[in-house]
Amino acid sequence: MASEHDTMILRGGKPLRGEITVRGAKNNIPKSVVATLLTSEECTLTNVAHIEDVEIVSDMIRAMGGEVRQDDGTLVISTKNIQLPTKEQFQSFSGRSRIPILFAGPLLVRFGKAMIPKLGGCNIGSRPVDFHIAALKEFGAEVTEDEYFYYFEASKLRGTKIALNYPSVGATEQVLFAASCAEGVTELSNAAVEPEVMELVALLQKMGAIISVDTDRVITIVGVPSLGGYEHAVMTDRIEAASWACAAAATDGEIYVKGARQMDMTTFLNKFRQVGGDFDIKNDGIIFRRGKKGLSSIALETDVHPGFMTDWQQPFVVLLTQAHGVSIVHETVYEKRFGYIDALNRMGAHIQLYQECLGSKKCRFGQRNHFHSAVISGPSKLRGTEITIPDLRAGFSYVIAALVAEGESTLHNMNLIRRGYEDFRHKLEALGVQIVK
Ligand code: EPU
Repeated sequence: MASEHDTMILRGGKPLRGEITVRGAKNNIPKSVVATLLTSEECTLTNVAHIEDVEIVSDMIRAMGGEVRQDDGTLVISTKNIQLPTKEQFQSFSGRSRIPILFAGPLLVRFGKAMIPKLGGCNIGSRPVDFHIAALKEFGAEVTEDEYFYYFEASKLRGTKIALNYPSVGATEQVLFAASCAEGVTELSNAAVEPEVMELVALLQKMGAIISVDTDRVITIVGVPSLGGYEHAVMTDRIEAASWACAAAATDGEIYVKGARQMDMTTFLNKFRQVGGDFDIKNDGIIFRRGKKGLSSIALETDVHPGFMTDWQQPFVVLLTQAHGVSIVHETVYEKRFGYIDALNRMGAHIQLYQECLGSKKCRFGQRNHFHSAVISGPSKLRGTEITIPDLRAGFSYVIAALVAEGESTLHNMNLIRRGYEDFRHKLEALGVQIVK
């Protein structure tokens, strides 16, 4: 339910300056929590950001009788006494996050059964789970479904050969979970190799799994009979770090993003430099600012790793509204990830969307009536306005636009931002933002 805390009024037009710390990655912490289902030993996770997605996955473990203790930045998890969840216990998590489907493989390992609520589509695309289902069938699971649930059953999982149609992050993680404890060897081709996936590989190796990442997106997993507990510090959220970088350059300020790791962001840093951003790599983070020559236009395509992340796209587009010239952004990961553009145009941006693939890569969305290419003419003077945030990443980009804009902006649905960004309000204040309400 919307509350008055879900609305924020910001005054823009002032550079952001200061220092903030970014903690563990939203797209990795929940997967590390799901991994605890593969062991009855205690697991300790540090550098955990306090965000809603972590609460959701912790509540799912608790709903099954597991223990999750949370103390500033640390989660201690034990699934020793968990029971197979009932439909009622999991029903309430449907539609709140993408995580429930990842419980399927681990629950099959633990109980030979799983009932997973359907996730539904969302504001950025239809987001099906067909790769997850097909992969689990390859391991020998029987899968049925009704209107609200998928049902999985397997007396044991057998190692197998799986080729993904597309290098899906979630489906790769599903296979890693299932294969780690399956009987025999699994070879996964066309796997996702995002740093968050590699982090999960490292975590599972700590737990006793045998996983090798070969060239050409092939991952080989030798199943082991059981896994043990772990102690693990989560990687920094590279999406949040990049978003603050865009905020620094777009407002012509300077932000020291403590925790940002160069190795996970090299593709972003290249594009950031090409558009006219400047940065200093420090031992404990990265300082971002606008370069002396100002911002100039660029062409880019989002892609799976090592390409430019789709989750960097929205803040980067706001940055491009402040660059001189005509920029092109071709979104190739999701079919509907430009839904937030209308509001930017209402603020004074000049962005035109196209159904054609405006890039060198032919993507899955060409000729399918999806507006997945954007042409941005800049620089544009943005004006404050009233906006309703449609999703997490669009939310941060609207905040950046509001900070660039002259005057006040009213942002509704700020609760969506809390799903993935820790301490958002305090960070804005630390950077000198005037929050009117
Ligand atoms: N896809 C299918 N079938 C499947 C799975 C995926 O067609 O069974 C398609 C998707 O529709 C999409 C593409 O494959 O077009 C890539 O999806 P992927 O499975 O890689 O995405 P995901 O695992 O569901 C994670 C992140 C996303 C991030 C993507 C890509 C989490 C919880 N979410 O999603 O993050 O955009 O990988 O890197 O890890 C976000 O944080 O805002 C966010 C959307």
